[in-house]
Amino acid sequence: MPPRKPKVIVTRKLPDPVETRLRELFDTELNVHDEPMGREALLDAVKRAAAIVPTITDRIDAELIDAAGDQLKLIANFGAGVDHIDVAAANARGITVTNTPGVLTEDTADLTMALMMAVSRRVVEGANVAQEGGFHGWTPTWMMGRRITGKRLGIIGMGRIGQAVARRAKAFGMQIHYHNRKPVSHLIAEELGATYWESLDQMLARMDVVSVNCPHTPATYHLLSARRLKLLQPHAIVVNTARGEIIDEGALADMLGKGLIGGAGLDVFEFEPAINPKLLKLPNAVLLPHLGSATVEARIDMGEKVIVNIKTWMDGHRPPDRVIPSML
Ligand code: 8YV
Repeated sequence: MPPRKPKVIVTRKLPDPVETRLRELFDTELNVHDEPMGREALLDAVKRAAAIVPTITDRIDAELIDAAGDQLKLIANFGAGVDHIDVAAANARGITVTNTPGVLTEDTADLTMALMMAVSRRVVEGANVAQEGGFHGWTPTWMMGRRITGKRLGIIGMGRIGQAVARRAKAFGMQIHYHNRKPVSHLIAEELGATYWESLDQMLARMDVVSVNCPHTPATYHLLSARRLKLLQPHAIVVNTARGEIIDEGALADMLGKGLIGGAGLDVFEFEPAINPKLLKLPNAVLLPHLGSATVEARIDMGEKVIVNIKTWMDGHRPPDRVIPSML
């Protein structure tokens, strides 16, 4: 049986209500400085904690897991994606890994639409011109973007977030296409009027907008490689709110710069927090600093999920959001 009040170490500053509840329920050590812990502090944490609560800014690799003491039983990630955690290495040592799926779906899908609209209607370019005093009167041909209604959207990864994007895009009058390991159920496909493409290459060549919504795994690293990006139509827009590593960022920046791709809306980057300097100069790229789940509501709900996962484990049950490597 786990100890009654297990030692829980939280690596980053979390919303106040989440931290308060963590302190009430567990023997919790917080990181109130809002700086990533650093390797030494993480090594110390895995030697003392029964459960650690990391985020995407911590690298929980095999070496760190190997250095953990026998007391470490749970890695309760604050976030849905777990590509920064070596889940197989953790499981091999009997350490359970949990995440926070579901509660950031709608907000991430909203931000995907925001990026799609921002790129196609030149929202950021226009806002910058207006704020810099560059609006000298309406003209019939100035700052024309592209219509979204009636266009084809190709969603890569039709899980929770992909489906939430599809529902929104359908309401915008878009035609929904998707590539996934397997087709979604008939009911969902019918509701969304979605067309399944087993071949990603074939789908890419036909889309007006492509949205990346799959997890980053070894199988999806550089899924949008230089070769695949070349399959896109020159007016196509690429949106990524999943993980930067899924796109060859250098190739994307080059092609955007040469006008071989219409535009890109990126919330995530291959070498985060660094952003390819070429992207920073492009008017057809809208860049956000990983804001997918950045709403007060989502961040509190994510914290609540972390708490439920630790509490159920502490009470001797199997935590609801266990990450199973074969399902990634
Ligand atoms: C989180 C995310 O904020 O949940 C995810 O996978 O990408 C983000 O929206 C981040 O991962 C926190 O750890």
